[in-house]
Amino acid sequence: MNEERGKFSKLGFILAAAGSAVGLGNLWRFPFEVGDNGGGLFVLIYIIAIAAIAIPVLMAEVSLGRYTGKNPVGAILTIRPGSPWKWVGYLGVASGFMILSFYSVVAGQTVGYFCKAVSGGFRDMTPETAEAMYTGFTGHSVAQVALLLLFILLTVFVVSRGVAGGIERCSKILMPVLLGILVLLLVRSLTLEGASLGVAFYLKPDWSALTPKLVIAAMGQAFFSMSLGMGTMITYGSYVSKKDSIPGSSGWIALFDTFIAILAGFIIFPAIFSQGMDPAQGSGIMFNVLPVLFAKMPGGMVFGALFFLLLSIAALTSTISILEVPVAYFIDEKGWKRKYAAYIIGGMAFLIGVPSALSNGGVAFFSNLPGIHMGFADLWNKVWGSYSLSIGAFFIALFVGYVWKTSNALNEIRTGTRRFPLGGLWAFSVRFMAPVLILAILVISFL
Ligand code: PHE
Repeated sequence: MNEERGKFSKLGFILAAAGSAVGLGNLWRFPFEVGDNGGGLFVLIYIIAIAAIAIPVLMAEVSLGRYTGKNPVGAILTIRPGSPWKWVGYLGVASGFMILSFYSVVAGQTVGYFCKAVSGGFRDMTPETAEAMYTGFTGHSVAQVALLLLFILLTVFVVSRGVAGGIERCSKILMPVLLGILVLLLVRSLTLEGASLGVAFYLKPDWSALTPKLVIAAMGQAFFSMSLGMGTMITYGSYVSKKDSIPGSSGWIALFDTFIAILAGFIIFPAIFSQGMDPAQGSGIMFNVLPVLFAKMPGGMVFGALFFLLLSIAALTSTISILEVPVAYFIDEKGWKRKYAAYIIGGMAFLIGVPSALSNGGVAFFSNLPGIHMGFADLWNKVWGSYSLSIGAFFIALFVGYVWKTSNALNEIRTGTRRFPLGGLWAFSVRFMAPVLILAILVISFL
């Protein structure tokens, strides 16, 4: 065993994988995608995508990782040496860089909001003052870049110490406390006057809103939220013990991740509607509405601070898993030292992240890219967070389904599990359902 790699303990994998899955994807990205895409229909398609595509792909990734004990590129090359399939792995490594860059910007903003909460910044917030606070904050270039740097440094620090030690420890305490605060927020939001309008928006599918753009966004969100399509779960799978049950862990991870996302929507939308705010306001929605909610809660300042602290940690357990993909690649394939790999790649992600940090108002060019009518962070989020992950998941499903073969994958999946009666269904999804649906959605959305 290469000592630069390491292994998770039995519960460690579920914790670390759940730590990777639960993050800004659930609390920041999911609500703003739901809001931008008209509400209930997006939620419905998201849940279908999780069940029909994401869970099978999750099991495919974890089994491929555990079987080969490698990063995505190495895993593919172990099964099919010298084949061009390795480009699927490279795409994952590249997506890792790119996602880390903009994700860390938003993660830095959660740290910023933690500081604001601690200094009493949420007191007497109204929708107007909250929106002004967010605009002022994101328009402050120096603060945005500094927070980005801080967050990348935190990530690099943990990753440079290795997965088993760094990642497991972070995930253990975090989840239950975060869940507790979310439940408090839920109660507050649902009891606001006019909350039911938000619940209706969130739950009632409006079929007239069905467009290829909505479907690709929902599917992309499913991959993003479950950390799929770039090899995170291949890499984490490589640290999983042969005694762990892959179907069991995958089921728990999917359930928990989806539960948190759905909960987030039940917090955000009732509050948005009761305050007369716009649900389709884009990526700032969480930052705009939560301070208002905290201002209306007894003990809101304390809970606000605690919430943003925990969200920062949840984001950290995700950025760690994102950085781990390129780091594991350079350790396995290029023989780099873990520390060196973490610092170099983190540094590059910081540089690529600067335009995203400047794009929420700091520098006009990055806020509205010519010809695209979108800021740099939004563009990166779409390209790498939705399209690239969908393309990656498509090829991973094909690779496991036809090159490695589902029979071999099922052998690996059944190692450590007493029984897995859904094997046939899983194989059907990986070989047919997932690739056909992903391809169809991608093609239609490009047309
Ligand atoms: N799943 C993480 C979240 O929801 C983000 C992530 C994406 C992590 C891709 C790893 C890979 O916040």
